[in-house]
Amino acid sequence: MDLVPNKPNLDNARVELTTLHWENLHKHFQWNNDPELNHLDSDCPYEKETLHAFKRRFENMIDHPMPDTRDFEICAEDGNVIGVAYVEGINHYNRNCNIGITIGDRNYWGKGYGRAAIRKLLRYCFDELAMHRVGTETFEYNEAWRKLIEWAGFQKEGATRDYLFRDGRFWDKHIYSILEGEYRSHRALAA
Ligand SMILES: CC(C)(COP(=O)(O)OP(=O)(O)OC[C@H]1O[C@@H](n2cnc3c(N)ncnc32)[C@H](O)[C@@H]1OP(=O)(O)O)[C@@H](O)C(=O)NCCC(=O)NCCS
Repeated sequence: MDLVPNKPNLDNARVELTTLHWENLHKHFQWNNDPELNHLDSDCPYEKETLHAFKRRFENMIDHPMPDTRDFEICAEDGNVIGVAYVEGINHYNRNCNIGITIGDRNYWGKGYGRAAIRKLLRYCFDELAMHRVGTETFEYNEAWRKLIEWAGFQKEGATRDYLFRDGRFWDKHIYSILEGEYRSHRALAA
């Protein structure tokens, strides 16, 4: 029994991962130009981008995707596109890659959509891409991402010390991975 009143069941949310859609350009522009999201998911300092420049970048992502990268939109069960997920650095020889997820729409934070998206993304990496190792990184201060990847069974490998300079001080970047055998034996991911 859950003893915390009104705490949502984080395993009830459902999402689909789809390819990028041009008609969602403005959502992607908003998420790519959000200082708080930038603080959590990018190691480049926030810099405002014009819609014109972003349009060209987004067009390229749709028409000329990098061969070692897959970009997805995260669509919630109510039909709303709520964020993005990606796989990058796909190496078929070594069978490894890295992942990231951004729930751009804050109305969907803390309701299990991150869990639902990472389930789908890992299934894609291990079942479709036949990866052996999936890696990810998190900044020392990003508690939500750390909790999510640890819930998903990622193991901490170490830290890149004082990697990031933010808010007047240095922060570590933590390196995580999950191997295929760990993924297959992790029951929480099967739901
Ligand atoms: C990180 C992120 C994807 C998590 O998605 P979410 O849908 O909010 O997370 P969920 O509801 O599935 O919850 C997953 C875990 O994160 C925790 N969590 C969610 N929001 C949190 C917050 N603001 N602070 C602390 N923990 C939080 C949940 O409690 C849960 O942990 P638990 O299993 O210990 O209970 C989302 O917060 C996000 O997009 N953040 C901005 C971008 C980012 O940081 N991306 C990651 C790097 S690429």
